[in-house]
Amino acid sequence: MHRKLMLGAALASVLAAAPKIAKQPFGSQVFLYTMTNASGMEVKITNYGGTIVSIKVPDRNKKLDDVVLGFDSLAGYTAKTNTSYFGALIGRYGNRIANGKFTLNGHAYQAPVNDGPNSLHGGLQGFDKRIWRAKETDDGLELNYVSQDGEEGYPGKLNVTVRYTLDDKNGLQIDYRATTNKDTVLNLTNHSYFNLSGNGKGTVLHQKLTLSADRYTPVDSTLIPTGKIVDVAGTPFDFRKATEIGSRIDQDNEQLKFGKGYDHNFVLRKKAGEFSLAASVVEPESGRTMEVWTTEPGLQFYSGNFLNGKDVGKGAKAYPFRSAFCLETQHFPDSPNHSNFPSTVLKPGDTYKQKTVYKLGVQKK
Ligand code: GLA
Repeated sequence: MHRKLMLGAALASVLAAAPKIAKQPFGSQVFLYTMTNASGMEVKITNYGGTIVSIKVPDRNKKLDDVVLGFDSLAGYTAKTNTSYFGALIGRYGNRIANGKFTLNGHAYQAPVNDGPNSLHGGLQGFDKRIWRAKETDDGLELNYVSQDGEEGYPGKLNVTVRYTLDDKNGLQIDYRATTNKDTVLNLTNHSYFNLSGNGKGTVLHQKLTLSADRYTPVDSTLIPTGKIVDVAGTPFDFRKATEIGSRIDQDNEQLKFGKGYDHNFVLRKKAGEFSLAASVVEPESGRTMEVWTTEPGLQFYSGNFLNGKDVGKGAKAYPFRSAFCLETQHFPDSPNHSNFPSTVLKPGDTYKQKTVYKLGVQKK
């Protein structure tokens, strides 16, 4: 009896800690899942592209705002004019592969070219444009997608599972797992656009960013890494101390010109595979903060340089130049063509694993 009571109490506390999850239609075969936690944070995710649609968190006065960009309806995401990957899961290969070409075990492969001369974010129909199988779990949402052998030019039938979970300390955790039946390459990430002031509330240039990176991978004019790994010291890429995103963004610097701002992969300071703090951001007015933790070796910091005000997003807000930043946890762009970068090869029998946490908070006064 006593034992049963104890078990009951343990179960009750597990259930109390678990976020609530609700499901509503968002389109044909497509749903919108809303997770809420005990601290008032609310996250909406759709199984179209595994996309994070909104993240509502309090500011220092407990006022809720949505801190990611996106659309109110599925039509916004599926529109041909949406080329920004707002909130989506990216695969098979996050960021660029030069000319879409790579060689594996002596075979040449061709991924679709969709960004100048290069292949970007998985090609013409990447994971961001797929409908994922969704299952609500005790602590969040589990998404699964099986990518067929040869899809978008990539070898191997790839089985990918992504779990989104929300804790009571306003941490949104993303766990990625993938297996393959043939040697392949992959680089998974999430492409959320954050503005800690709130969706549609100006630019992010005054938001202060810290990166746990002493080095970054410079690019050519088409944003393909040159293969060099360069120290950030003495450059506008030094974010080792909290620095406003906009303070050096328009400096006369070739790398910033190539990216129209920041659009670069930073080499995270860590032991291989270690789960560590990659970035933190502070928005001084609202007091909102965000930390990014990951097991990945790299982080693409993109300062929203391709946003141009033409996308009209949630709440009829336009998204102008640099009105959000992305912090995409990943392996380095174009790794299949650079033997000095950490390998992105996955073999049958092995499991690709990635854990990333976006932890929202407010600044202590
Ligand atoms: C990534 C790329 C950028 C851009 C965005 C999507 O961050 O590095 O160059 O393509 O995705 O617009």
